[in-house]
Amino acid sequence: MNDPKRYLITAALPYANGPIHIGHIAGAYLPADIYVRYLKANQKDVAFICGSDEHGAAITLRAHKEKSTPQAIVDQYHQMMGKSFADFGIHFDIYHRTSSAEHHAMSQEVFNTLLKKGMFEVETSMQYYDPEAKQFLADRYIIGTCPKCANDRAYGDQCEKCGTALSPLELIEPKSTLSGSAPILKETSHWYLPMGQHENWIKDFIAEGKLEGVQHHITKEWKAHVLGQCMSWIDGGLQSRAMTRDLDWGVPVPVEGADGKVLYVWMDAPIGYITNTKVWADQHGKNWEDYWKSEDSRLIHFIGKDNIVFHCIIFPIILKAHGDFVLPYNVPANEFMNLEGDKISTSRHWAVWLHEYLEEFKDKQDEMRYVLCSIMPEQKDSEFTWADFKDRVNNELADILGNFVNRVFVLNHKYYNGIVPSIEGYELDQTDREVQDGIALSMKTIGEKLEAFRFRDALSEAMQLARWGNKYLTETEPWKLQKTDPQRTAFILFQCTQIVAKLSIAMEPFLPFTVKKIKTGLNLNTTQWTDAAHHVIIPTGHAMGQVPILFEKITDEQVQLQVAKLQQSKAMNSASVAEQKPNITFEQFQQMDLRMVKVLAAEKVAKTKKLLKLTVDTGLDERTVVSGIAEHYTPEELVGKNVLMLINLAAREIKGIESQGMILMAENAEGKLCALGADKNVQPGNVVA
Ligand code: MF3
Ligand code: ZN
Repeated sequence: MNDPKRYLITAALPYANGPIHIGHIAGAYLPADIYVRYLKANQKDVAFICGSDEHGAAITLRAHKEKSTPQAIVDQYHQMMGKSFADFGIHFDIYHRTSSAEHHAMSQEVFNTLLKKGMFEVETSMQYYDPEAKQFLADRYIIGTCPKCANDRAYGDQCEKCGTALSPLELIEPKSTLSGSAPILKETSHWYLPMGQHENWIKDFIAEGKLEGVQHHITKEWKAHVLGQCMSWIDGGLQSRAMTRDLDWGVPVPVEGADGKVLYVWMDAPIGYITNTKVWADQHGKNWEDYWKSEDSRLIHFIGKDNIVFHCIIFPIILKAHGDFVLPYNVPANEFMNLEGDKISTSRHWAVWLHEYLEEFKDKQDEMRYVLCSIMPEQKDSEFTWADFKDRVNNELADILGNFVNRVFVLNHKYYNGIVPSIEGYELDQTDREVQDGIALSMKTIGEKLEAFRFRDALSEAMQLARWGNKYLTETEPWKLQKTDPQRTAFILFQCTQIVAKLSIAMEPFLPFTVKKIKTGLNLNTTQWTDAAHHVIIPTGHAMGQVPILFEKITDEQVQLQVAKLQQSKAMNSASVAEQKPNITFEQFQQMDLRMVKVLAAEKVAKTKKLLKLTVDTGLDERTVVSGIAEHYTPEELVGKNVLMLINLAAREIKGIESQGMILMAENAEGKLCALGADKNVQPGNVVA
């Protein structure tokens, strides 16, 4: 493939319905930023495009939950996300938004073009409608019981418990989350993209990298998991997909009589890449079409794996159906990064929020950038833990990189007053030569890895440079040599100074804040990647300044604090998860016979993990209850306890045992069941009312 004249690099437009967390960063934004910094250091013409995704049910749902409006929600998060990215050194050329007038115009233009070209089919179908709220229900607005795992809080598009993708019609006992009532089916019509008609070319495009017989990209450069996901979609047969929705928030469908309908968010959002490029180009005296409509332009989408089908299949179909536009050259999607043993989730509050990190770890952007890049989920899922964060910062950043740079500055100042020494007439020995060759090769490898989207490898190779530097100093011990062999000492420090300069080039995509400090210390202005190819970057006689301590160590207390904070936010969140059930009357309440009972005996029910068979004294009689608490209490812990029981629950047979009533427990934030006692003396049979 020829080198392109221009690069169009996009990072998934995040939903403006919550703050950015480290999973987003590791998934899409950090790799994109590293790649773009590398391209720019190579003097490439690059447009780095991002912005907020402000439409769709993700936003209206949040607004509904917070008793706010979609506009207020997106205003808040657009501002917040833009700031977090900037503060973290994710340096987009533009961060615009899909609620903007420019974007409405652009996406309506694309829709109209497809419409005129006959690319849509109008279909009528029955969809769930909430008669109380008087609106059609987006999939996310419907909850019900999952047909696969019986989770009674599955959404109309997915069950988050078992991961099954669902359609609202599959839910058992669906309910509207707007009014709580059962939705009815009502007729509606929409514009569908008949994706099946595009199957042939999209298959060539993905499987062979070909477009109308012409090689477009090199398929083997695409990640295996990306190709795999695409092929399984294609092989499963591409279904028509509605490109419009009945919703009052979004880009209005630009057709007469389509009131109350908006573009499907996955149609309008990727067009946001185009809008934002245009807005940026207009602001900078450039032509957006050079990036979107020229064969010399290379489009690369950075995304997380849940976005693959939209970027590799649906959006390319839209682009090609429109005509003129370039198609993605590569989509180096990442897999997921988990957090302390659990999936990151905005709704469950299990996340490290970027804006909070930036506040609590002031000026430590590079520490997080380093760790996230080191564990980036490039080929498979990975895991962030605070203990690992601490280890990597302390043992790698501080002990290897920070230490090496510091030693070189200190020694240069001690022996040469910070003036890079002369190496005239010095003959290199074996060690010197090995180090020199190693450095030259290393820079090349880092570049190759970056170009192949192997960011973890690239970073570890860059770290290797600093490791060599340290080893070189330790092995040659210039502080001992200085008296006996000043010429060699000068060479070693000269060489190490070049390594520091090379590090400032190699590390810039990963650690831009640190590199700035190093460059300032070195009095070095260069930013070109190609400079690193030269043996000598900083010549004899150059005056160096000072460099501050680059990395402070992370303490155990900091780690504990963060872990505790996570647990706490999860606890608070799960406490608020259970919504209040519909009201009952006092008479209904009075039908329940709640009493304190005393546990007389307890034993495990054979061949079950969860069940205990209890014999209890109800004050009226002795009876048997089967209770699912074996994972929370041992039989011994329960015997003799007074606990709360519903004694008039109809008897049921459980595992062949007749259970007469139900022991009541509270479930705490960790999911542990806790027996309920009384805080004064009670007797078996005391009534609870
Ligand atoms: N907002 C989507 C998400 O967070 C990503 C949209 S990417 C775009 O999953 F291409 F549609 F912009
Ligand atoms: Zn399920």
